[in-house]
Amino acid sequence: MQSRIEIAAPAKINLTLDVKGKRTDGYHELETIMQQIDLQDRITIEKGPLGYIGIDSNSSLIPHNQENLAHRAAALFIDKYAIGAGVKIFIEKNIPIGAGLAGGSSNAAAVLWGLNLLFDCGLAKTELLDLAAQVGSDVPFCLLGGCALARGRGEILQPLVSRVPLCLLLVKPDFQVSTAEVYRQFDLTSVERSPDTAGFLESWQHCDIIGIAEHMVNVLESVTIKKFPEIALIKVKMKKLGALNALMSGSGPSVFGIFDEKKRAFEAMETMKTSYREVFMVSTHRCNEAGD
Ligand code: C5P
Repeated sequence: MQSRIEIAAPAKINLTLDVKGKRTDGYHELETIMQQIDLQDRITIEKGPLGYIGIDSNSSLIPHNQENLAHRAAALFIDKYAIGAGVKIFIEKNIPIGAGLAGGSSNAAAVLWGLNLLFDCGLAKTELLDLAAQVGSDVPFCLLGGCALARGRGEILQPLVSRVPLCLLLVKPDFQVSTAEVYRQFDLTSVERSPDTAGFLESWQHCDIIGIAEHMVNVLESVTIKKFPEIALIKVKMKKLGALNALMSGSGPSVFGIFDEKKRAFEAMETMKTSYREVFMVSTHRCNEAGD
């Protein structure tokens, strides 16, 4: 039996994000289209001393203890399906932190997936999705991958088949955002435009990239842009540089622009790099197996 496994942990963006209201459990009811992108962390899991869960990383910016979602995922999995086992987890961080890209959730999903293989537990995806929802709202999507319409807290997933790979430019400004704080400050009455999810899906089905771009709306911009107006400037700049549209991902502050030409995205990247440290040209190519 193998003693070590390596798993890719891709980031996600939200192509639309709507908040339908606050729930009695304190969470918000969502309707969001989530899409995996090819910017990814790499998780290595090794069997360790009995009962031990260790986290190490090439980044000093993430917690190396129980606060890390990867640790929480491992503890939950081991408690239920690999009692007494120990693991050493190494996180090679490439996804910006506190960025609205589900970096931590993606690491947790990779740990659940990896432990299932490493300890030969044979859990079905539905069982892993159930564990994932206990770790965090974005973790089930990260486990499923591809593209999906998410409802509930984010755990009710409807996979979407995607036929056109999207060419995207991602900019993460030099500050971080707390998701919990953004949701706490969210006020439905301050929302200027909500996504038309049905309209988005219509464009999606017809591989209509212009329609997809036009339907990209995220209601959480109403909170995060108020606090960090620079996000709005990045959106404007991205559109001036040729993006069909640009949107904040999740609770922010990352902004992605959607391009119809790789060459134009590349030129925009070169310009953005003169102002921002974390700029990535990414694609959804090879991220869509789950929906196919
Ligand atoms: O589920 P997770 O711990 O990743 O969520 C982080 C925070 O974001 C939650 O504590 C909650 O405040 C907020 N949240 C929410 N509604 C959701 C998802 C997250 O209010 N659907």
